[in-house]
Amino acid sequence: MSSFADMIPVIERLERELPRFLSPDRYSHTLRVRQVAEALGRRFSLPLLPVGLAALAHDLERDRSHSDLLSCARERGIPLARRDLAHPVLLHGPVAADRLRREYHVVDEAVLQAVRHHTLGHPCFAEPSHQVGQVLFVADFCDPLRASVDGAMQEEILALADLPCMVREVIARTRAIFGELEEPTEQLYARLNGVNGNGA
Ligand SMILES: [Fe+2]
Ligand SMILES: [Fe+2]
Repeated sequence: MSSFADMIPVIERLERELPRFLSPDRYSHTLRVRQVAEALGRRFSLPLLPVGLAALAHDLERDRSHSDLLSCARERGIPLARRDLAHPVLLHGPVAADRLRREYHVVDEAVLQAVRHHTLGHPCFAEPSHQVGQVLFVADFCDPLRASVDGAMQEEILALADLPCMVREVIARTRAIFGELEEPTEQLYARLNGVNGNGA
C-alpha cells in the first residue's frame, strides 16, 4: 500500500470482516473509537483515512486468548518483553499490526505503529509524524462507554488545546488510577515533557 487512497479497500474489507472477528461489545467499542478518532482528525486537519484505518484495526486481535496471542507472537517473530509474558493481552496490538501488514498489505508506518503501540504508547508518539498514534491513544481512552474512565475526565482531555497535551493527560490520568506505568508509557510522557530535549 503506497498512498492514502490505497487504504480505502482495506477499510472497506475491515468494515465487512470485523463483525465476524470481534465480539459485539468489542465491535461497538471499535466503532466508538473510530468516531472519536475521526472527530480529532477533523479538528486537527489530519488525513482521515489513516486515522480511520488505525482505529478500525486497533483491537483486531483483542478477542484472542492469551495463549493464542503468545503462540502467534512467537510464530511471527514478534519480540517478547518480560511484561508481555506476564500479561499476554499486551500483545494484541503488535499481533494486529503484524496481521495488517501481512494479510492486508498495509505499509504505512504511522498506521502500523499506532496499532502496534496503542495500549501502552511508545516514545515515537511524541513525534509529529506519529499523530495517528497520538489520536488512537487518546480516542481509545476516550471511548465514551469505557467503564473504567469517568466521562467528565474524558471531556476534559478532549477539550485540551492539542494532541500532545491530550496524550500527556491520558498518561497522567492513567497513572493516577493505576500507579507507575510501563516503561514505554513513562518514556513517552518524559518525551512529551521535553526530557532529553525532544519534547513535542
Ligand atoms: Fe486494545
Ligand atoms: Fe480499544
